[in-house]
Amino acid sequence: MDDFNKEEKIKDIMHRKEDHINICLDKPVQAKKVKTLFEQVHFINNSLPEIDFDDIDTSVKFLGHKFSAPFMVGAMTGGAELAKKINENIGIAVEELGLGMALGSQRAALYDKKIEDTYSISRKVAPTAFIGANIGGAQISAGFKIEDAKKLVDMIDADALYTHLNPTQELVQPEGEPKYNGVLNGIKNLVENMEVPIIPKEVGFGISGGVAKKLENVGVKAVEVAGMGGTSYSAVEYYRAKDFKINNKEDLGLMLWDWGIPTAASLLMIKNNVNIPVVSSGGLRNGMDIAKSIAMGASLTAMAWPVLRPASESSDAVKAFLETKIYELKSVMFLLGVKNIDELKKVKYIVEPKLSQWLM
Ligand SMILES: Cc1cc2nc3c(=O)[nH]c(=O)nc-3n(C[C@H](O)[C@H](O)[C@H](O)COP(=O)(O)O)c2cc1C
Repeated sequence: MDDFNKEEKIKDIMHRKEDHINICLDKPVQAKKVKTLFEQVHFINNSLPEIDFDDIDTSVKFLGHKFSAPFMVGAMTGGAELAKKINENIGIAVEELGLGMALGSQRAALYDKKIEDTYSISRKVAPTAFIGANIGGAQISAGFKIEDAKKLVDMIDADALYTHLNPTQELVQPEGEPKYNGVLNGIKNLVENMEVPIIPKEVGFGISGGVAKKLENVGVKAVEVAGMGGTSYSAVEYYRAKDFKINNKEDLGLMLWDWGIPTAASLLMIKNNVNIPVVSSGGLRNGMDIAKSIAMGASLTAMAWPVLRPASESSDAVKAFLETKIYELKSVMFLLGVKNIDELKKVKYIVEPKLSQWLM
């Protein structure tokens, strides 16, 4: 790439990252007519829990890493100045609480060393927390080099490398690159040559059982659902297509606003097909969604969009938000009479037909 093209590319990516943050803060970007289907899952109230709230232990191990609760902040950002503050605030909070975070796509940092600190700030403030590096499927299918993958991981001393699978977003995004030929082979190459675990994730459209199986077969260590029912990246890119006056992409954004596999359905489909750990995410909004995910077989959960607003304010705001979610999770555990996550995993739940239909 010549210097001029490189400069333009960096500017493009940085503007895009800022657009994503601002749109997610200012505009309605959540799924409209569809839900995660966690509302189709019910627990049975236990009026004789026989435990004290304060004795409840929410800690778990995920890929050998200890978390104080089965919960982390999902991949969001990096690249732009505002992103640095967001990553710093999230980093401080997850370090203090013993949780974890994933960074947004680090593609821009491969072109420009100057923006590395918008990502590495998270490791600086969170020396021991679980932190995931991130790169996109479109880059992987375009022949992403192992030496570049290593750079991204080293930049933040990452505990894992997330590969986001976002074909829907690439379609709607004005500068999108809907080129996914060879992506599975690229992921296999990463698995074979990287020391850290590779964790494929969606970006809010969900992963099917069949796709999860293919990913397990190439050796990934876990998958993250990132299902439909929460943040819609078709919505986010719709606003950008509208600004760019690209009519066909604007229409596509509207058509695909609610596209995808609802998170609860995606989680069950994946669990029915693979034995690797699954991270439940996409539209999780409270401790009840976290508890249901764990009972349905998830090893960990993640929330992205709900953390953006507090993260744009302060680390204390992020901490307060995360503490509330842990308090909600503990409350549900109290009402089920379970004192730790192993017991929560065994709790029975009821599934309504609308959710079971996805499993036919
Ligand atoms: C502002 C913002 C930026 C995001 N950027 C990325 C990204 O760079 N890489 C990625 O894997 N996912 C990205 N995501 C997707 C989230 O990780 C998550 O999968 C999705 O938002 C669904 O979860 P939610 O409903 O809790 O927001 C982003 C989400 C938001 C809100």
